[in-house]
Amino acid sequence: NFVPETVPTSSLNALDHKTPQSPSSAVPVASGWHFNKTLSNLIRKNILKFLDAERDISILKGILKPGDVIHYIFDRHSTMNVSASLYQLLPTVSPMKNQHHKRCAIVGNSGILLNSSCGPEIDSHDFVIRCNLAPVEEYEHDVGLRSSLVTMNPSVVQRAFRDLASQLWRDHFLQRLRSIAGGVLWIPAFMAKGGEERVELAARLILRHSLDVRPAFPSLRLLDAVRGYWLTNKVQIKRPTTGLLMYTMATRFCDEIHLYGFWPFALGPQGNPVKYHYYDSLTYEYTSQASPHTMPLEFKTLRALHRQGALCLHTEACS
Ligand code: CTP
Repeated sequence: NFVPETVPTSSLNALDHKTPQSPSSAVPVASGWHFNKTLSNLIRKNILKFLDAERDISILKGILKPGDVIHYIFDRHSTMNVSASLYQLLPTVSPMKNQHHKRCAIVGNSGILLNSSCGPEIDSHDFVIRCNLAPVEEYEHDVGLRSSLVTMNPSVVQRAFRDLASQLWRDHFLQRLRSIAGGVLWIPAFMAKGGEERVELAARLILRHSLDVRPAFPSLRLLDAVRGYWLTNKVQIKRPTTGLLMYTMATRFCDEIHLYGFWPFALGPQGNPVKYHYYDSLTYEYTSQASPHTMPLEFKTLRALHRQGALCLHTEACS
């Protein structure tokens, strides 16, 4: 168990049901950090006992065929059909096959990034992972521009691109996808019900415009495997966030992992207000009621790993 702090789980759970204010201690986490290669290798080895991100990052073409019925992972009683367009987008080999990177950045979507000036530092990594098609161009100075892998929950198609209902929103969507040219677009299509039509809309647009993205659809076992790894390490997560999923997978193909934009608290290290997302007006009130996640517990875990040098959690402005 690599989480040395003993904060009673009950107090962490309590945090999830009301508006989280700030972490238990406001130590500036990114100062004086040293990479612990031995620990990082050990974590990679242990995670590999549960999942292999090179394989689990995507279902491959040979596994499914059009018309196959899939039970959603979180909503086992609901099903979706593998459409012809989704099938066409399935990769034939893993988009992360034989990839290994020295320094990777994973960019979470917290408002802590605003005024951070971290853009150039984030972009200087060998591989940059972003979540949920968060906008970059308007925030370049704080979040950077490069995207090697971007996730897209089906709900984002509705929330950020209004279900692609008008040409304007389709253009916005296309523009965002064009900006990740050559990168992996990771679509968790089979996790929660309700996304089928949105995935279909996105898939058709990608095909119609022959977009230069490499789609990936996580394996059906990924979620349970990630949860299994963390539960074995006594981290009682309900449903891992995209950010934690990305960290867990990135251990497979990255040496040093740097996290930016992970701060699930309404107040910053100096007690300043922090937006939930750097780019929209979602509030903590909304997310704490609707979210199935255990973000403050995830944060505490990541911070413990940071202190041990297994990853670097950046929560301060970059110089
Ligand atoms: N995150 C964070 N603090 C915030 C907002 C986000 O640490 N205030 C991290 C979380 O790990 C999250 C990731 O950044 O998964 C991406 O943010 P977001 O798109 O908001 O993810 P969620 O809405 O939580 O979506 P999901 O259910 O896919 O995790």
